[in-house]
Amino acid sequence: MERKILIVGNWKMNKDVSEAVVFAKEFYPEPGGFGDVDVAVCPPFTAMAALKEAFTNTGIMLGAQNVFYEDRGAFTGEVSPSMLKDLGCKFVIIGHSERREHMKETDKEIGRKVMVALKHRLTPILCVGEDLKQREMGRAVGFVRVQVDKALVDLSSEEMGRVVIAYEPVWAIGTGRTPTSGQVEEMCQAIRATVAGMAGAVAQGMRILYGGSVQKENIAQFVQEPNIDGALVGGASLRAADFRELIAQAQVR
Ligand code: 13P
Repeated sequence: MERKILIVGNWKMNKDVSEAVVFAKEFYPEPGGFGDVDVAVCPPFTAMAALKEAFTNTGIMLGAQNVFYEDRGAFTGEVSPSMLKDLGCKFVIIGHSERREHMKETDKEIGRKVMVALKHRLTPILCVGEDLKQREMGRAVGFVRVQVDKALVDLSSEEMGRVVIAYEPVWAIGTGRTPTSGQVEEMCQAIRATVAGMAGAVAQGMRILYGGSVQKENIAQFVQEPNIDGALVGGASLRAADFRELIAQAQVR
């Protein structure tokens, strides 16, 4: 099944409104746009409205880095799925390892967020990935399969088919260290098999991304693999020229 490459920039806690607007001006594609690649940027909540305007008619999609699982009410500091829809969001990153670590997000909470995002027609980008210890003990694949299972178990097949999964080994994030494309392909295959076991044929249409020290120099080797359908990019998505070049290097299918 044909799956279009998806490149998503995760800005994490970087860029204020004026910096985001400068980025958008530099990043705006030439006529012809980004070719046959879907592109999304996930800024901090505070820059979302400005980017919605700056990205109008560019084809660049917006995503959030987190969402809460209730729609409104007494939840001080949280942002709801309908608020994200209102800002033009298409995607929402859920369960990033930085949130699992620093905010102690659990698989249960993450599963709930995925479900609520889907109900609001947002596309969740579910992040999974092992730490270095699990990798060295040979337990990476088993660990990630359990993470996927726990986050998706309560969804229907149709809902599972609308999820994007990002495989981000914790030890590769921000370190300049990456697994080989063969190791990533093996993991993405295992993730697809896990989803197929739960949801059947929709797993073939699901996009599975790689994240962790992706750069313009190494993106091509990842997206050449049959089960790696794009990337979730941190540091290299912060500089417009580099991110554009990274996207150009991802046009391999
Ligand atoms: P880096 O690309 O900076 O390693 O970050 C990866 C990441 O965490 C994307 O969500």
